[in-house]
Amino acid sequence: MLSMNIRSYALASVIAMSTPAAFAMGASPNVDDDAVNARIQPVAKLEMAPLAPKGGAVSRTGEQMYKTICFACHAQGAAIPTSPKLGDKAAWAPRIGVGLDVLTKSATVGKNAMPPKGGATDATEIELARAIVYMTNQSGANFKEPTAGAKIASSERTPEQIAQSACLKCHETGEQGAPKLSDQAAWRQRSSKGIDAVTKTVIRGHGNMPARGGVADLTDTELKSVITYMLKRAGSGA
Ligand code: HEC
Ligand code: HEC
Repeated sequence: MLSMNIRSYALASVIAMSTPAAFAMGASPNVDDDAVNARIQPVAKLEMAPLAPKGGAVSRTGEQMYKTICFACHAQGAAIPTSPKLGDKAAWAPRIGVGLDVLTKSATVGKNAMPPKGGATDATEIELARAIVYMTNQSGANFKEPTAGAKIASSERTPEQIAQSACLKCHETGEQGAPKLSDQAAWRQRSSKGIDAVTKTVIRGHGNMPARGGVADLTDTELKSVITYMLKRAGSGA
């Protein structure tokens, strides 16, 4: 009950906090800003405390992060056109494919219209990862929520997910002269060298084919399994 009261009072105060700014802009110059600030400050601090943990005391859940920060751009119907929306499996699928660790890095540094940490500059890595898990698990992913203190696991990405997100953009269309998956003859010729030789070529890169297919953090084992998957789909076994 006590905390409820504090919360509603704090909320009212947070709304009140916007008024000094309005006064500063000249709306009503004879109000004492300092007095207003002094009155609301302790309460405003109370309100902020659970949101901005210092020393890892309280850490926000994925749901809290989403509902206070990410929803502004990632909710269905958010005005920003390029963000993948909650529940939009098609928009999330290629992103989910790169794994939670890579997504967390991407969200940390930002990407195009996505600001670093979604604008929540005080967010910790684990809070960001949880927010991503919260969003993506409602959009086709099956990530495990990372626990405090644990390193964010490079999630198990299936060969299919990796291929979808990283390789098929060239190998489905033939972009840049990539052998198309549908071109059985081209693949039969390449796979005749043996999977290990082909994997080595991909690790190094070859002509227009970027090293590791452009995904620097793919392990050799992951690459090999993706290539095996692609060769199977191309119908030439391996
Ligand atoms: C100001 C708008 C905005 C906010 C707030 C925002 N995002 Fe984003 N986010 C975007 C946009 C736009 C993209 C698409 C970027 C692109 O691919 O061009 C995106 C993409 C992402 C991606 C995919 C990154 C990738 O590599 O494809 C993740 C993950 C993500 N956001 C997580 C979050 C999380 C977590 C939050 C909240 C802490 C958040 N975002 C808040 C706009 C936002
Ligand atoms: C930017 C476009 C592009 C992307 C992305 C890409 N490739 Fe390629 N890939 C190529 C091109 C072009 C070639 C043909 C290179 C040549 O023979 O000169 C190629 C060739 C290959 C080959 C045959 C290599 C050989 O020994 O002949 C394999 C296997 C392969 N790619 C796998 C992958 C995998 C796996 C990924 C994703 C992790 C990937 N590629 C992503 C463009 C791409």
